[in-house]
Amino acid sequence: MMKEIKLRLTDVNACNISNLESIFSLANGHVGIRATNPITSDSLAGTLVNGYFEYSPIVYGEVAANYPKRNETIVSLPNLRKIKVMDEKHREFKSARLVDINLDLLSGQLSETYELWNVDKQQINMQVTSYIDQEDVQFFGIQYTFIPISYSSYIYVDKRFSLDEDAQHKIAMKIDDPRKTRKIASIQRQIVTKTRYRQTIMVDTAESNQKIYLTVYSYKNDQPLLSKLTLNKSQTVTYQYNVSQKNTLLDKRQIDWDLIKSHSIEFWQQVWQNSEVSITGNDELNLALHFNIFQLNQSTGRDGKTNIAAKGLSGPGYEGHTFWDTEMYMISYYIYSQPEIAKKLLMYRYNTLDFARNRARQLGVNEGALFAWRSINGEETSAYYPASTAAYHLDGDIAYAIGNYYEATHDDDFLAQYGFEMLLETARFWRRFGCWVNKRDYQQFEFHTVTGPDEYTVMVDNNYFTNRMAQHNLRLAYRLGKRLSEINPRRFAKFNVSTEEMDDFVKIADHIYFPFSDKFQINAQDDTFFSKAIWPFSHTPRDKYPLLLHYHPLTIYRYQVNKQADTLLADLLFPETITAEQLKREYDYYESITTHDSSLSRSIFSTLAARMGYMNKAYDYFLDTVRMDLTDLQGNTEDGLHLANLGGSWMSVVQGFAGMQVTPQGVLKLIPHLPKEWEGFNFRMVFHNRLLNINISGNQTTISLLDGKPMNVLVNDKSYHLEKILKILTKR
Ligand code: BGC
Repeated sequence: MMKEIKLRLTDVNACNISNLESIFSLANGHVGIRATNPITSDSLAGTLVNGYFEYSPIVYGEVAANYPKRNETIVSLPNLRKIKVMDEKHREFKSARLVDINLDLLSGQLSETYELWNVDKQQINMQVTSYIDQEDVQFFGIQYTFIPISYSSYIYVDKRFSLDEDAQHKIAMKIDDPRKTRKIASIQRQIVTKTRYRQTIMVDTAESNQKIYLTVYSYKNDQPLLSKLTLNKSQTVTYQYNVSQKNTLLDKRQIDWDLIKSHSIEFWQQVWQNSEVSITGNDELNLALHFNIFQLNQSTGRDGKTNIAAKGLSGPGYEGHTFWDTEMYMISYYIYSQPEIAKKLLMYRYNTLDFARNRARQLGVNEGALFAWRSINGEETSAYYPASTAAYHLDGDIAYAIGNYYEATHDDDFLAQYGFEMLLETARFWRRFGCWVNKRDYQQFEFHTVTGPDEYTVMVDNNYFTNRMAQHNLRLAYRLGKRLSEINPRRFAKFNVSTEEMDDFVKIADHIYFPFSDKFQINAQDDTFFSKAIWPFSHTPRDKYPLLLHYHPLTIYRYQVNKQADTLLADLLFPETITAEQLKREYDYYESITTHDSSLSRSIFSTLAARMGYMNKAYDYFLDTVRMDLTDLQGNTEDGLHLANLGGSWMSVVQGFAGMQVTPQGVLKLIPHLPKEWEGFNFRMVFHNRLLNINISGNQTTISLLDGKPMNVLVNDKSYHLEKILKILTKR
């Protein structure tokens, strides 16, 4: 087990403070708190609560039938870190400079030091230590220690909420950047209780009608919220917050700083125990990888009602919406390390099925369900349908995750209660959405006017990725339906599925058409992709990327240019569908036209390249992936971390360099490729109720069964029986 792993910033001045707010944010799947300056609070947002949003009308220039009518925006709540510090004359220490910050990834402790000055340039230092409770998720604890430097008299600290604070802080409103969030007006605040040691404020959204209560307690040393402290030595005051849907006025003895701290430490111990991924031979990358996994865990909703927003709880970008990012980039980490969380994420989708059924009807599909491309509560909110609603592949992505979850856990109860119904509803959607097309001597099944993962190519016929996902979805519905009918015939009967319908799923799946280029001998992204001109890359200056911020969408759509992995993602998910030679041709072709303007791209290029043994490429893309937010590679870490990419960095290591896959027969398989730059790497994973430790070092792969019954594994296509420990020679 690791002794220490801390993200420490050595040169705070060289950094963009807004990026640091995201990077050092603390969260527990429910509440997220950006690491804003507690004195100046000049931040993009303060506190975010998973699933707490407000509606606003979507204003269209030209409206058409069945467009989504309202937007959802995550609400930025009052900043819990804020504190007012005054000198003996009640003049504020208004200037505050961050001089040191570090985040302990083993305990979840965030420590910061600020230098504070009053108008007379007298200085005190303020050390801030905080933890978020990972068990009683509505608690957050923060301690401020004041140290006299050139001022040593009384100070007054004021920790009360103020009603006039701008509810949305300084959310950047850049209307020409669709990745930012918008400002919303209809938030009401009201003080509910106020005593010397406790203050509660209620925040109420007028339209979505959600209430959140924030209570601040001050309890240690009997300091009231408005405290007078003598500063001839250091003085610490501790506060804790309760952020919840109900106004529960807790007795201060029920929860305290030490409990919040121990819940945090226990949680992280457990996380690393089951899912540690470490690199030996490169401390910087090892730290970055741990950071990514830490932040992914922080932002994940764990209650079956909330999910993971594109920026998690680290920032307000993308309005707090959940996308396909969860099922394609993040859930794998959970399926193979904390399957109970993977289940909760899938249950979130299950809980949105009614919205999805309704959406399918609005799109003229009279059976099945279409999940929302972007949403907080499951209701479709995307205003720009070409690059959102038309991304029907989301249904297949969710089905794919359900299939993987089931294969890894054999959770029959989940299948019966939730999983099969989602597979059935999505399969029904594909069946009614697609159509049979008569060819001269046969019939094929096609899907028209769809958008694949590459958002620079929209509304095309037969997007290869979409067709593969639909095929897999239909087959899964059949296969797992059969399984359910065997293990729980009564439950299966409740779904009213006829044999004809089930057989039709298979027939359609077997006849789905896949576009192929005879000229290039590769899968074609869609029916017309290769008839377009290639984007004029050599005439596009570096500062014109990402293209979406500089060119009208229609300009982009005329060309062969990929924002992110599309056909290659299908190749990664379905390795059995492509030969090694074709995969090389395909990788080379699509790579040459991909801009990676989306943060979801590079991890796929890395993972796939590692599987192919393209080690230099795999490594280079991995470097970008694992350091993306720490280096602000996309230029917008200030809006929040790129959650899908955090999951993608786990994919690069585990599914790429270790080549971890589950065969269609349900066997765990590894094809290790150790980067020459590393001595080795190690990871833990959970599969079929077993805890495994996998170490790939030098020429050896060692698989240890830490918990559970013996099992078979495939390493480089050779089968082994794992009793306790297996040491296998593997080439670099
Ligand atoms: C990507 C989408 C992604 C969204 C949210 C966009 O830039 O193209 O694939 O779902 O960001 O992360």
